[in-house]
Amino acid sequence: MALFCDLVRDIGKDRKAGHLAASLSELTDVDLLLERILKDARSLISAEAGSIYIRRGQKLVLAISQNDYLERVVGESCELPFLNYALDLDHASLAGYVALEQRTLAIENTADIDPDAPFQHHTAVDKSANYFTQTVMTLPIKGMLPESIGVIQLINPLDPHGRAKGFDEDDEKILEFYVNSAAMSLEKAMMLRSLTLRNVELISRHDPQETAAHAQRVACLSAEIFEHWSTKRKTPYQERLRVLDLFPLAAMLHDIGKTSVPRSILTKPGRLDLKERATMEGHVLIGARLFRQHRTQLDKLTYQVILDHHERWDGQGYPGWVDIDTGRPLPGRVGPGGRVLGKKGSEISIYGRILAVADVYDALVSRRSYKDSFDESLSIQIMEQESGHHFDPQVIESLLARRSVLRRIRDRFPDSEDNEEMARELPLARAPLAYPVGA
Ligand SMILES: [Fe+2]
Repeated sequence: MALFCDLVRDIGKDRKAGHLAASLSELTDVDLLLERILKDARSLISAEAGSIYIRRGQKLVLAISQNDYLERVVGESCELPFLNYALDLDHASLAGYVALEQRTLAIENTADIDPDAPFQHHTAVDKSANYFTQTVMTLPIKGMLPESIGVIQLINPLDPHGRAKGFDEDDEKILEFYVNSAAMSLEKAMMLRSLTLRNVELISRHDPQETAAHAQRVACLSAEIFEHWSTKRKTPYQERLRVLDLFPLAAMLHDIGKTSVPRSILTKPGRLDLKERATMEGHVLIGARLFRQHRTQLDKLTYQVILDHHERWDGQGYPGWVDIDTGRPLPGRVGPGGRVLGKKGSEISIYGRILAVADVYDALVSRRSYKDSFDESLSIQIMEQESGHHFDPQVIESLLARRSVLRRIRDRFPDSEDNEEMARELPLARAPLAYPVGA
């Protein structure tokens, strides 16, 4: 507390650190937080690059990396060679040393590290990225548990002319204050995502196809599509941020109603009879009822995602215009033969329209009990054929526009059981993830 009071009394960098730390409270999404924390921490010392590693077992997994120089020189379109990059959690690297010892290391010049020091700078990463980490500060991200959450590395501070300038005297103190404050926000966001994934685990016990990996891929793709769709419409930044902050969590829960559907129906290999099909389709209303109270913005968004994710653009989806308690058609919403009318077009919330695209695309490229996985081109072709029928054409347009991230999402969250534990609860890596440096 004394540290905070001292800092906010000051002006300049100290005050900026206080404001930046306070502004983190508007975010609950792990990925948005990581992106903001790294960007803000870099801005405090004008660092050209930086990375955040998250601790997972005996590894430090790269969660996010930013590098102004490489973005300028290489651009965002290049291959992303360091996806799922991880360091061993030991004293050999700067990051590992800091994560274990939980104290900040400020290195003015990595070339001057004593060869007998317990830690060394891993130059292999720099060489792969064709970058030189000269000055690096590595700080532990400490939460409530005795072990650190991870580490943040801030690399190569520059003066206003873009020349290397080294650290200022108070940089370490200011960054420690900022990172300690940020850790509290990050830990809460991780807790929320972890709780959400526990729910996904419950769903997967009923329906083995609904794995944590599938939920995270759908969440990640939904956010990517929304980002493109909303940017194209010039949706105000704050509104986009508000949705992006909650959409991934809501997307992960889209099939929570399946926990009330008998496993025998969910895993039946052949076609479902009419009664079984009705039970299966009931998962939408069961799930929506859980979130109908709208106590929070997340409830509201999750409710819309669940209720609308099986509607179709052409009105042939389900559950349609029904009372969510009784499942009966709403007044005036009965079609020929007494059938309930489906929602169609923009009657379906944009969140439901996006989720439908992300969910079906992921099912196509994944192996299922009834089919092998389709490759990306065939899956995209099928999605395009359904544009204007099953799917909103503009959402399909956004899916196609984000085609470059499809493989990255699958690589981040593979179905393999070996990788399931590692990938579980990792940041979604939605932001451009490219060039780790430092280490
Ligand atoms: Fe569903």
